[in-house]
Amino acid sequence: MRAAFPARRMRRLRRTPALRRLVAETRLSVDDLVAPLFVREGIDEPRPISSLPGVVQHTRESLRKEVAELADLGVPAVIIFGVPATKDAEGSGAWDPDGIVQVALRDLRDEVGDRLVLMADLCLDEYTDHGHCGVLRPDGTVDNDATLERYAAAAVAQAEAGADVVAPSGMMDGQVAAIRTGLDGAGHGETAILAYAAKYASALYGPFREAVDVTIAGGGDRKAYQQDPANRREALEEVRLDVAEGADLVMVKPALAYLDVIAAVRDRVDLPVAAYHVSGEYAMVAAAAERGWIDGDAVALEHLTAIRRAGADVILTYWARAVAEGLGS
Ligand code: PBG
Repeated sequence: MRAAFPARRMRRLRRTPALRRLVAETRLSVDDLVAPLFVREGIDEPRPISSLPGVVQHTRESLRKEVAELADLGVPAVIIFGVPATKDAEGSGAWDPDGIVQVALRDLRDEVGDRLVLMADLCLDEYTDHGHCGVLRPDGTVDNDATLERYAAAAVAQAEAGADVVAPSGMMDGQVAAIRTGLDGAGHGETAILAYAAKYASALYGPFREAVDVTIAGGGDRKAYQQDPANRREALEEVRLDVAEGADLVMVKPALAYLDVIAAVRDRVDLPVAAYHVSGEYAMVAAAAERGWIDGDAVALEHLTAIRRAGADVILTYWARAVAEGLGS
């Protein structure tokens, strides 16, 4: 005879899939996802990105098709990154009305109307020949305030081309205020700002730099403007400032190594909180899955669920299409 332990039976509610589904505290839905997409100027065929298996640099035409399919699949939003054919010291392709992201946004607005939210990453690094997120002073450091003027111009160009949301990712001080002022002054008071508020100087952006053809001049890095991974409270101050400057949504990036930051931001703000599951996070899973070392689909769901559990309302993820196509359901 066994003793009757008065143990609390936690396992009762784990017994069947239906029971587990009923008591799940966190749900992952395609409604919360944003698909990051790359469009490259001057190519005839989509180009694979070797460090991001399954993700490509689109042509204007293939981007149009992809976004129409995503809209049909129920993905609510995309964020567009441009790869220009030529780069210069200022990054002028970022605000040129004929720059690649602007022409792509016009194509997409024409293609999907208001069925899908069009976001545009707003930064200079894809457009500068030195690869930094802003314009440089003669000594090679990034000039904060001179960069803000360019960001405001880029925001207006993106809004004019049809962006619903502009997403400044350059981590310049005052960027949200400068962009809000620029947009409002040009009659784009309806265009929303998704602020990359707490963006860390992470080593997980490696594959993204292949995707957008960016090499930082002289083997440099972004540590003088992106945040130190050691800091959490500093992220809260960044978020507070961006909210005060007029951000409509705030983002933490990367996601998995910063779940504590996502949770802390969620506690303090009532705006929608986004998290970016970045290229390196995706690539690690894809690479291990390719070797048969992990079940890539299961890990993808685990990652995205954890990011939602930490408190993110919205997730930017390279798995958006896979989730829409049934991953996890
Ligand atoms: C900057 C930008 C970066 C990413 C999004 N916007 C790269 C960087 O700051 O170096 C990274 C996204 C990813 O790794 O998936 N325009």
